[in-house]
Amino acid sequence: MANMTILITGGAGFIGSNLVDLLLSQSKKVVVVDNYDNFYSKEIKVKNLENASKNNNFTFIEGDILDEELIDSIFKDYNFDIVVHLASKAGVRPSLESPKEYFDVNLIGTLNILNNMKKANVKKMIFASSSSVYGNSTEIPFVETNASDSPISPYAASKRAAELLCHTYHHLYNFDIFCLRFFTVYGPRQRPDLAISKFTKLALEGNSIPIYGDGSMRRDYTYIDDILQGITKAIEKINGFEIFNLGENTTISVNELVNLLGIILKKEVQITRLPKQPGDVNITFASLTKSKIGLEYAPKTNIEEGLRKFVSWFTKNVQN
Ligand SMILES: NC(=O)c1ccc[n+]([C@@H]2O[C@H](COP(=O)([O-])OP(=O)(O)OC[C@H]3O[C@@H](n4cnc5c(N)ncnc54)[C@H](O)[C@@H]3O)[C@@H](O)[C@H]2O)c1
Repeated sequence: MANMTILITGGAGFIGSNLVDLLLSQSKKVVVVDNYDNFYSKEIKVKNLENASKNNNFTFIEGDILDEELIDSIFKDYNFDIVVHLASKAGVRPSLESPKEYFDVNLIGTLNILNNMKKANVKKMIFASSSSVYGNSTEIPFVETNASDSPISPYAASKRAAELLCHTYHHLYNFDIFCLRFFTVYGPRQRPDLAISKFTKLALEGNSIPIYGDGSMRRDYTYIDDILQGITKAIEKINGFEIFNLGENTTISVNELVNLLGIILKKEVQITRLPKQPGDVNITFASLTKSKIGLEYAPKTNIEEGLRKFVSWFTKNVQN
């Protein structure tokens, strides 16, 4: 469906801007609404959309998903086939400082998008959820049917609450909604607050890398191209309400990650050990059984290859 028109909320961010570039390369029409939230710099986000901005199939609207009038007018101005809802207050640790902002944007913002979709009779949404909804689940790897009723941060709780709201709109109004639970995403344009980006910057500057806890915490890191493959498959196959994990089905500890980074950068990496942070889960590990069948999701990039690609992008684009 080359001539689809897609609304991407939060499209100036890391995952969103990569998705915008991919969809434009497939000749789709893309409209982004993003308020350049101050979680990290606007300059980075403007740069993320530099190429997209030259494309006639692309429109950028600066605005807040909580702005009811604005969102209403966007749905009046365009005939969207589907909404990819990525706009969010991201980050687990900062959500402990401002839980209300997280719930405003992640839950009430989602409600505002869903309500306006209903008014405009747009009934397909991909929702960006998170592996954090599994909390400290002991059933590993995480299967979509695991209980996800014990989130341990406001961010995780807000994402789970928004998933539940999505289900309600599916049930009441027959919306097709796929909630995709992303497992720590990395790659070009990664958010500066996330470990791989932060660690690479510190190591290249010769500064020490902070490790919270003993470094045994494990993460299923997912390369951006694999996430994009999952999202585009979801756009293609959306039908009913479903939840899918998008990860790599493999884990690496923080200590192993830092070692690998040192090898790739050919640097002796300094470490500072700090206390474990509240809100951080011990492990994330995606079962992909459901997404392989339902989405034909087939992730391709292992952490070593992905980290090499990230470092190569970072040294050319960020550190110079
Ligand atoms: N990056 C990851 O590892 C990861 C993991 C799990 C889930 N997610 C989810 O994926 C989505 C994208 O994440 P990302 O890493 O690209 O984050 P990001 O911060 O780079 O992108 C989010 C974008 O949303 C925008 N935004 C925030 N509040 C807004 C508002 N009120 N109105 C309009 N726009 C607003 C921001 O300006 C930003 O450009 C988010 O929903 C996030 O929670 C990301």
